[in-house]
Amino acid sequence: MRTLDDLLAEEVAGRRVLVRADLNVPLEDGRITDDRRIRAGVPTLRRLTDAGARVVVTAHLGRPEGGSDPRLSLAPVAVRLGELFGAAVPLAEPGGKAAATVDALADGGLVLLENIRFDPRETSKDDAERAALAHELADLAGADGAFVSDGFGVVHRKQASVYDVARELPAYAGDLVLTEVAVLRTLAGDAQRPYVVVLGGSKVSDKLGVMTALQPKVDAVLVGGGMCFTFLAAQGHGVGDSLLEADQIEACRGFLDSGKIVLPPDVVVADAVAADAAHDVVPADAIPDGRVGLDIGPAGVARFAEALGDARTVFWNGPMGVFELAPFATGTRGVAQAIEAATRRGATTVVGGGDSAAAIRALGRDEAGYTHISTGGGASLEYLEGKALPGLVVLENP
Ligand code: 3PG
Repeated sequence: MRTLDDLLAEEVAGRRVLVRADLNVPLEDGRITDDRRIRAGVPTLRRLTDAGARVVVTAHLGRPEGGSDPRLSLAPVAVRLGELFGAAVPLAEPGGKAAATVDALADGGLVLLENIRFDPRETSKDDAERAALAHELADLAGADGAFVSDGFGVVHRKQASVYDVARELPAYAGDLVLTEVAVLRTLAGDAQRPYVVVLGGSKVSDKLGVMTALQPKVDAVLVGGGMCFTFLAAQGHGVGDSLLEADQIEACRGFLDSGKIVLPPDVVVADAVAADAAHDVVPADAIPDGRVGLDIGPAGVARFAEALGDARTVFWNGPMGVFELAPFATGTRGVAQAIEAATRRGATTVVGGGDSAAAIRALGRDEAGYTHISTGGGASLEYLEGKALPGLVVLENP
């Protein structure tokens, strides 16, 4: 795989370099609520501009259906990128206008293309349609152009700006992609033991692949969040109105047979999924009918902290409860604190992206408390599942 270092070893001053970044950040009323992905993308961009490259960034926001959608414009992202970068970043509309903006770039300049998914060819299942868009992107870079793949969060997508364009231009892995892959490779391979995985989030079905792949390599899998109720049901307990995936009960039984699954001994149940709902801590094997489990309880936090006590490697994916509602954030906060303690003891602690990364920030935890917080949600899970990720495969075999 050629890397950014290889590209910088060539002369890049004055050349146009197309960079695929993952700038898919959460927005509320047009305001960015978490800019971590933008911050994570800056170092690669800065190395290129410092070397005098003319940098054209392409990225997506959300999943627009059927063309442009002003609510999913990258305009707020361009503003934030400019603030982080120290110079305004123009946002180029697709088509001919983008070519004019790119032509006007000076050495060391940076332009962001508008949401690439506004063009339906980006996500098309038709190879020829995607290739046509990739060709247009490559044209923007010109005859001596290059492509840097730095959007780790999207490398699991076979899309024009991720996969096909890497076959149109000399392609290089950016620093963010290299860092993410190096960390996840350790987790998927020979990680130091004890190796403890903490899983949460709502659905067992989303985590089956990663559980199957990691279970033989780890010492314990701590299960909280909405998914723990399907495990409790698999043990024969009633779960009231809690989340339950009846079709996954059998799969949960299989995992329980491994002896590595650790479930919370108590849970927080409420009358409704609302911050002001009446709630109580109950034993996990005595959830009353009509009540919904929304967090792990204090004994659950203690049990998980104990299991994390001597861990040398930790992978955490998924919150322990509905952390967005203050009364149900205690479990996630407690597990975060236990993982941060493991980091201080010298363990390698990795947070899979998505909701767990969002929880860390929403709960005001210090990101420095973890060895690595992935910018990938689905991408990091699929990597750990051992799947071939198209955006990486194409860099290895251009
Ligand atoms: C993500 O948010 O995980 C990435 O940006 C990929 O987005 P997607 O799931 O819409 O392809």
